[in-house]
Amino acid sequence: MKALVLSGGEGSRLRPITHTSAKQLVPVANKPVLFYGLEAIAEAGITDVGVVVGDSEAEIRAAVGDGSRFGISVTYLRQDAPLGLAHAVLIARDFLGDDDFVMYLGDNFIVGGITDLVHAFHSHRPAAHILLTKVSDPTAFGVAELDVNQHVVRLEEKPQIPTSDLALVGVYMFTTAIHEAVRAIEPSQRGELEITHAIQWLVDQGRDVRATTISGYWKDTGNVVDMLEVNRSVLETIEPACLGEVDADSDIVGRVRIDEGARVIGSRVVGPAVIGAGTVVSRAYIGPFTSISEGCRIQETEIEYSIVLRDASVVGVRRVAASLIGRNVEVTPAPRVPFEHRLVLGDHSKVQICS
Ligand code: TTP
Repeated sequence: MKALVLSGGEGSRLRPITHTSAKQLVPVANKPVLFYGLEAIAEAGITDVGVVVGDSEAEIRAAVGDGSRFGISVTYLRQDAPLGLAHAVLIARDFLGDDDFVMYLGDNFIVGGITDLVHAFHSHRPAAHILLTKVSDPTAFGVAELDVNQHVVRLEEKPQIPTSDLALVGVYMFTTAIHEAVRAIEPSQRGELEITHAIQWLVDQGRDVRATTISGYWKDTGNVVDMLEVNRSVLETIEPACLGEVDADSDIVGRVRIDEGARVIGSRVVGPAVIGAGTVVSRAYIGPFTSISEGCRIQETEIEYSIVLRDASVVGVRRVAASLIGRNVEVTPAPRVPFEHRLVLGDHSKVQICS
């Protein structure tokens, strides 16, 4: 069995972060979200992995390399434009050959891995086996309708009037039957070859399409709110450790990991939180559910429930919360008089200002 990991795409919901970097590499508890997926694939015993890449190919290649650090062998598959999940299967045809495969969306986060699911798929080898989970707002997802035997009878992409509350999770298992399906479908209204349409095509052909409904934790980290929520849940499980330096005037409370070369000076850090290698936190408060990447400077600032990417600095800011701060960003206070905000924001930035 092979794996196909989708790490291309446009990432429009995570702009401006995705103008300059791949959303699959945004860190969750200081580890790229994509790495959790690759680890789950390796754990399931799959070693032959195709990684679909788009414009951020160089960055993904630099981060993942040949896959040996995960115990897998990676083949990069270039998708010239993000023309849909089924299009990714189409361009991976030669790599996939006649093998069964698991397709894993590189920005999805699933607790509990995929090992049991892969075994379940092996025992019946249906044409397609999808994962579902109950969601409160099915209109934002691909939604499946099942019969009493858990066989899929209908799939719909972001339905206005959903027929169930079961949304597709970003892991799919296929036999070679999917290749005929992705060739048979037409682009959707949004111009993409939809995997839901390809699976529906299999259903319409009378092929066996099964589903497992998972009750565990799953999130698509494609937007900031969900990204922060995944970060929160992963931080709850980190091992506390101090590989850096904490001075006598600082307080470290709860589950906190401080990486090599990080320094905490005259500050209070309340976990769960991680502080990346080489980061300096001085006269600051780091609150729960915060991940600060490597090489950052957090000074005279209060920050919580946030992700700060590498080499950013936040200095003299009273309270930052529920924020995703990009690489090399500088946040500083404005001069007090006149009262004003001075902003240099990239395209598609979103800022909420107290006024
Ligand atoms: P999506 O989040 O559905 O799409 P997107 O990345 O274009 O994001 P947005 O909706 O915010 O514009 O993609 C799910 C995963 O699949 C993600 O890791 C990107 C990847 N992907 C591809 O590799 N190729 C594609 O053609 C598409 C649509 C997505």
